[in-house]
Amino acid sequence: MHPDDEVCLCFRVSLRKVRTFLARENPPVVSLVSECLGAGTGCGWCVPFLKHLHRQHQAGQTPDLKVSPEQYAQTRLVYKKDGQRDEAVLREAVGEAVGDERRDEPPGRDGHGPTTSPSGG
Ligand code: FES
Repeated sequence: MHPDDEVCLCFRVSLRKVRTFLARENPPVVSLVSECLGAGTGCGWCVPFLKHLHRQHQAGQTPDLKVSPEQYAQTRLVYKKDGQRDEAVLREAVGEAVGDERRDEPPGRDGHGPTTSPSGG
């Protein structure tokens, strides 16, 4: 995904904005990423992707998604219409086995959303 591509399509939050927010704020829990222009607080589609970006940041990696913006937007349309998430696209985007990313509750604006598991699963 290009840095100018949008990760949260509801609030038009680009990958670059998420990266900058993660680098500057270093949020300890993914729910705080919602403070980045409301990312993840709309339809909920981007939440597993935001979780992955947060995990990459926590691991010292450059947050990125291995998916084209066209495919990303197209599968979001299906999600909004049918409520079904395309697991293949999620797996491709995160480039690994899908685990915690599957939880799709939107993070809360006030920090009451889901948090990363302290046990690590
Ligand atoms: S795409 Fe991020 S909340 Fe809808």
